[in-house]
Amino acid sequence: MSKFRTLDDLPEDLAGKRVLVRVDLNVPMDGATVTDDTRLRALLPTVLELSDRGAIVLLLSHFGRPKGQNRPDMSTAQLVMPLHRLTGRAVRFIEDCQGPEAARAISTMLPGNIGVLENTRFHAGEEKNDPALAAAMAALADYYVNDAFSAAHRAHSSTEGVAHLLPGFAGRAMEAELKALERALGDPERPVAAVVGGAKVSTKLAVLGHLVSKVDHLIIGGGMANTFLAARGIDVGRSLCEHDLTGEANSIFDRAEEAGCTIHLPYDVVVAKEFAANPPSLRTCNVHEVAADEMILDVGPAAVEALADVLKTCRTLVWNGPLGAFETPPFDAATVSLAATAAALTKEGSLVSVAGGGDTVAALNHAGVAQDFTFVSTAGGAFLEWMEGRKLPGVAALER
Ligand code: 3PG
Ligand code: MG
Repeated sequence: MSKFRTLDDLPEDLAGKRVLVRVDLNVPMDGATVTDDTRLRALLPTVLELSDRGAIVLLLSHFGRPKGQNRPDMSTAQLVMPLHRLTGRAVRFIEDCQGPEAARAISTMLPGNIGVLENTRFHAGEEKNDPALAAAMAALADYYVNDAFSAAHRAHSSTEGVAHLLPGFAGRAMEAELKALERALGDPERPVAAVVGGAKVSTKLAVLGHLVSKVDHLIIGGGMANTFLAARGIDVGRSLCEHDLTGEANSIFDRAEEAGCTIHLPYDVVVAKEFAANPPSLRTCNVHEVAADEMILDVGPAAVEALADVLKTCRTLVWNGPLGAFETPPFDAATVSLAATAAALTKEGSLVSVAGGGDTVAALNHAGVAQDFTFVSTAGGAFLEWMEGRKLPGVAALER
């Protein structure tokens, strides 16, 4: 962490200093309602602290993918009310994220005021990391704070370019995220386990390839486990399976063996002939007994018990993706059960558990244990790229 400056490295008194804070306002909405405000709550510590220290707080973010077009339905103006409610403070809207109009509006703001700048992606230069756009953003402020780990895999003007043009600092959420990730894979206590689930191997090949060299136990679940089972010569019936990737799966087995990483695949499974809630054809069987017309939809109870025993021997856990088709009962059982074990071990103090990416937060919330994990990331794509061992441009730009 010493590689990054944090809010502790800013002058204590920020009275009237303009601080450009890159946040991730890219939250799901239904009309005017934010349906999951996790990312908004995550930015509160940074925004309230800066406001309390007298800064003029300028929130900079993308929202959706307007591709350089000015799209009223993707205006960050929609986030002003939700942010006002969450902060309990006045929040004003500034109609651009750069330029003289924005500068004029900002010049009327007082110490402690909070403003939301318009969607950065209304400018085509944003996604091209256009230096001119970055310079125009930088001209609005005295300092730059990045609190948006979930957008840090994008090398855009607001996440990367501008960080080189102003003194740059990690916000509180970014700081917590980087610390947690360091504890999980950077310099973890061993043994380390990783759970990787989700539908498709194709989206996570790089993740798996990197993890085998980093962790002691790699637990593979979800649809992607079927591709590994098939690579082992097991008939997975009508299960979701990427048969063209069995070669890749075999190479991951080989690399795991070389690195001393144990790969865990389910040896009993929950199957059905149709994918529906509680289908009549539901049964649990040994992985060698899947019929030609059946689909594997969850890890079986015996395998879950064995996986729980593996976690009991571990000190660190990284979790990405569900073990089964968790949105449809009873195919959530394995995810719920193993997540509960991880949460209990974390509470006991024997396990550091870090989770993130895509469906993971939804799965842990469904299991009712997200709050018991050591750290749950708000990031999707950025968390996956980090799990691939890649350097994230938005993080790299903050390093000193
Ligand atoms: C996300 O929602 O994952 C981040 O906000 C990044 O959004 P993007 O995938 O449109 O770059
Ligand atoms: Mg995304």
